[in-house]
Amino acid sequence: MEFRSRLIGVGSYLPEKVLTNDDLPAILETSHEWIMERTGIAQRHIAATNELTSDLGYQAALKALEYASISPQSIDLIIVATSTPDHTFPSTAVEIQSKLGIYNGFAFDLQAVCSGFLYALITADNYIKSGSVKRVLIIGAEIFSRIVDWNDRSTCILFGDGAGAVIMQAEHKLNLPNESGILASKLCSDGRYADLLYTDGGPAMSEKVGKIHMQGREVFKHAVEKMSSVSAEVLNQSGYNIDDISKIIPHQANTRILQSVSKKLNCPYSKIMSTIDKHANTSAASIPLALDYGIRTEQINSQDLILLMALGAGFTWGSAIVRL
Ligand code: UT7
Repeated sequence: MEFRSRLIGVGSYLPEKVLTNDDLPAILETSHEWIMERTGIAQRHIAATNELTSDLGYQAALKALEYASISPQSIDLIIVATSTPDHTFPSTAVEIQSKLGIYNGFAFDLQAVCSGFLYALITADNYIKSGSVKRVLIIGAEIFSRIVDWNDRSTCILFGDGAGAVIMQAEHKLNLPNESGILASKLCSDGRYADLLYTDGGPAMSEKVGKIHMQGREVFKHAVEKMSSVSAEVLNQSGYNIDDISKIIPHQANTRILQSVSKKLNCPYSKIMSTIDKHANTSAASIPLALDYGIRTEQINSQDLILLMALGAGFTWGSAIVRL
């Protein structure tokens, strides 16, 4: 018997505190106009000092469980995509497992920075396809406000905190038209680009977490080129073309990147789901946050054919086509 994944739940959580562009000139030499024009970001959410990544992920998971109307006990795998875990170890995934009162199955963190959610989704899909798990909770949760250098205006203005969660369930594959599932996907990485976006610390490197450093223009060029080409490859693999896609949910880093990608893929910008203005770049949380927002605002509906794409530090990148 062959299996496929069906999305049965989605949820998200954003910390209460909102830092608008207009709040920033008080601490940095910048302006709302520059940030809006160069990035499309108008505001970002910032976690409270007593909030941890597991708290954000837990809240998003509760919403996804409520959406799916299932009990936490029925989850047999939890994957948390994050680069800002609560601790070096244990994983944020087991912290969330415990907060949800789940004492069965297994849980682990996955670190692929801004591509983390896509990596986690495809990993979950492969567990489901293998027949070894029935329900997977996939969470992207980040508190990047704790690893940005608040004196570096070229990076700190870009990021925000938040979490998004989805639940995928195993269904028998019947090969019917419009059957839900992950229809095609590709993940890539190339460590030669590690110096373009990194933190200057880590447990083994410095015994500290470190702060973000980025060569923005270089990352920008790679994001456009790599997300466009891997998406074209995945479209080709699926047998669909760009006109069949209902909505594109890219990693939310910069409006200008999304405009360039839509041009390269020959699709109208209106097909791109964007929450950059509201959430800024929330790394591994950005795709599930945008998916949840799209579903709640009815811009994304059941049966839609969705194209996902991301690029993150490493570089890591990839794309997937999902029928909801
Ligand atoms: O999530 C992973 C993927 N990440 C990304 O995809 C991010 C990709 N990169 C970008 O989005 C853009 O490169 C940035 C938004 C980071 C920067 O935009 P840019 O148009 O590439 O600007 P730039 O770095 O080339 O800087 C242009 C100017 C510089 O001034 P000079 O040297 O021309 O005098 C910067 O110092 O803008 C200045 N600048 C700022 N000015 C006001 C940089 N940051 C700011 C700021 N406010 N916050």
